[in-house]
Amino acid sequence: MEEIRGSKIIMFPLPFTGHLNPMIELAGIFHHRGFSVTILHTSFNSPDPSRHPHFTFRTIHHNKEGEEDQDPLSKREVSAMDLFALLSVLKQSYDEPFRQSLAAEVSGGETVCCLVSDAIWGTNMQAAAEEVGVPRLVLRTTGAASFYAFASLPLLRAKDYLPIQDSRLDDPVIELPPLKVKDLPTIVTKDPEELYRIVKDMMEGAKSSSGVIWNTFEDLERLELMNLSRNFQVPFFSIGPLHKHSEDLLSTKTNKEDYAVTSWLDKQDAKSVVYVSFGSVAAMKEKEFLEIAWGLRNSKQPFLWVVRHGLVPGVDLLESLPCGFMESIGNKGKIVKWANQLEVLAHPAVGMFWTHCGWNSTLESICDGVPTICTPFQTDQRVNARYIVEVWRVGIMLERSKMDKREIEQVVSSAMIDKGDGWRERCMALKERADICLGKDGSSSNNLDKLVTHVLSFDS
Ligand code: UDX
Repeated sequence: MEEIRGSKIIMFPLPFTGHLNPMIELAGIFHHRGFSVTILHTSFNSPDPSRHPHFTFRTIHHNKEGEEDQDPLSKREVSAMDLFALLSVLKQSYDEPFRQSLAAEVSGGETVCCLVSDAIWGTNMQAAAEEVGVPRLVLRTTGAASFYAFASLPLLRAKDYLPIQDSRLDDPVIELPPLKVKDLPTIVTKDPEELYRIVKDMMEGAKSSSGVIWNTFEDLERLELMNLSRNFQVPFFSIGPLHKHSEDLLSTKTNKEDYAVTSWLDKQDAKSVVYVSFGSVAAMKEKEFLEIAWGLRNSKQPFLWVVRHGLVPGVDLLESLPCGFMESIGNKGKIVKWANQLEVLAHPAVGMFWTHCGWNSTLESICDGVPTICTPFQTDQRVNARYIVEVWRVGIMLERSKMDKREIEQVVSSAMIDKGDGWRERCMALKERADICLGKDGSSSNNLDKLVTHVLSFDS
């Protein structure tokens, strides 16, 4: 692809897999369109540049030499931390170092046409971009429905939906159908004000930007995008699902473990396997982990289960499985520490995805027409789960509070039976809608063209 001269895009992702993956996918799309891409990334949880040779990576350090001892970000498991407290520390720690790095990039000779920052970085990014005279776009890595719910938090708070009361969990949120009170995108956090501050800053940051890029597609969230755009008054570009723009955009290195997973899947019957993964951040108690283990085993369905380091903070999970468990599942189940999820979901043997409903996982399952069992943990995942079950009707709910081994066994085994209720057909229809949006003259393709034109107009 011929490079557009003087058109460098600087990107600043949030350092979590669920945010980094879509930013890297967007970088691939821009690169494919002839832009050069520099990714400024935090030293905390930094990505592996060798996986993406097309981009320039620059590390931003948040502490000075000799100050590592007082570092609030060192040696912590992401899933063991209070997420919003962590976000707050990240925003504070990287504000000044980011400004310096951005200024250095901008004075480096090549014309920078814009900055693309994750929405959660908020208003500080706008100030930093204005200081160096570079327009800024925002990437929102979650869906529009959940963003709308986040945007509504102040109103819902004023109407006493928040803080959530146990007695009202199943009440409908009249202002946000079909959400129930328990679906509101909150989180258990030491300081609830932190959540409201970060969300407010995210909204103001998006409103002050030169446009918002969405990893969603119009046929999935048309109404929610329309409701949001009325409030935001900046251009919207819904160009998702980002990972599907071109299968060859990302250099996904396949390793020995991936081959082992594929060869295990190759031996299973079509649509027989339940793939179980709760993303890169979710954490649970050891008791829940053991209930899942027994529930999966007792369901007698073949399963592929991602048991990530940190899923139960501080516990070596494979050690904590009861003696004889692995022998008792034999070849029926496979447990791995991480999987190439895009490859797994695309495999014909996978018939079901038991997921925490992170937005990437949600889109990835939709794109492969795989129905889901939904166990949301926090924030946007609850909104995503409600939409999967009640709006798009391509999944069933298995609430975390009800997750004992009997319930799991029952839900998993009954979900795998095709009851002729149109579930699988709806999944395939939704997958086709995604394909149409991404195809020639589809909304995501057209919006991407508009985005490129918008970015090029910054130069003139
Ligand atoms: C977080 C939030 O939890 C989520 O709700 C939000 O929408 C984005 O940020 P995460 O919990 O990691 O993300 O979930 P998700 O959005 O699903 O992202 C996980 C990513 O990791 C997906 O792209 C998935 O393909 C990938 N993954 C996950 C793997 O490649 N292998 C695995 O074994 C598990």
